[in-house]
Amino acid sequence: NAQLQQAAENLVRNRLMSDEFLDFVQENTKPLDTMMAYYKCAIMEVETKFKVLNEQFSLEYDRNPIESIKTRVKSLDGIVRKVRRKNIPLTLSAIEQNINDIAGIRVVCSFPEDIYLLADCLLQQDDIRLIEQKDYIKHPKENGYRSLHLIVAVPIFLQNEKREMKVEVQLRTIAMDFWASLEHKVRYKKNVPADETERLAQELSECAQISADLDQRMQNIRTRLADAELQHPQ
Ligand code: GTP
Ligand code: MG
Repeated sequence: NAQLQQAAENLVRNRLMSDEFLDFVQENTKPLDTMMAYYKCAIMEVETKFKVLNEQFSLEYDRNPIESIKTRVKSLDGIVRKVRRKNIPLTLSAIEQNINDIAGIRVVCSFPEDIYLLADCLLQQDDIRLIEQKDYIKHPKENGYRSLHLIVAVPIFLQNEKREMKVEVQLRTIAMDFWASLEHKVRYKKNVPADETERLAQELSECAQISADLDQRMQNIRTRLADAELQHPQ
């Protein structure tokens, strides 16, 4: 596959990839390509599950718990970096075993309780196997980051086999997503003096608290509205 080769050569030129990695890519172009295609299929499976759930809630309760869904397959250079950082052996099976976020799906909701509703509905499905769960909503990170992370295995059905693939699912509210994208920008900004970075981190941490409060209050409003409607049916 010329595209993958080209990507690998660019990485070497930019000193992101060692000759060793280039050899690996060149020797495994076809299987690497296949693996990436399988991850893409796994994303399609999980994305469909969320879309189906959204549809069902829309019919049943006249509301859409999902605001938006974003998906991505990790880039080759993202994989290279992680292989390096985690000292993962250069084989396809080691990469599959040790990197959990090659397939990624981010589900953005309006309200925190919908996150847990959707996560529960997904995990109840009998073809989904939970591998790992990190609840940064109940336990936010030190910097203020909040989201619910699931690593799940989902089967994809090929011509002659069924294959389990891992997918990283990140569930968050619009407010959590907004915060995370700004924090990401701050984190990867170069040429910002250390003391300013420190002040920005402090400011972000306060914003995380405000945004968590806002999520909670907006959810309370929705709950009260629903209760009031129940008590005063037209
Ligand atoms: P990697 O960071 O991917 O090696 O995995 P990990 O084992 O530390 O996983 P974790 O579940 O903590 O984070 C996985 C992903 O969540 C990251 O790749 C980011 O997309 C997101 N994430 C985690 N922490 C933060 C954070 O502090 N800020 C932002 N903006 N995103 C975060
Ligand atoms: Mg990651």
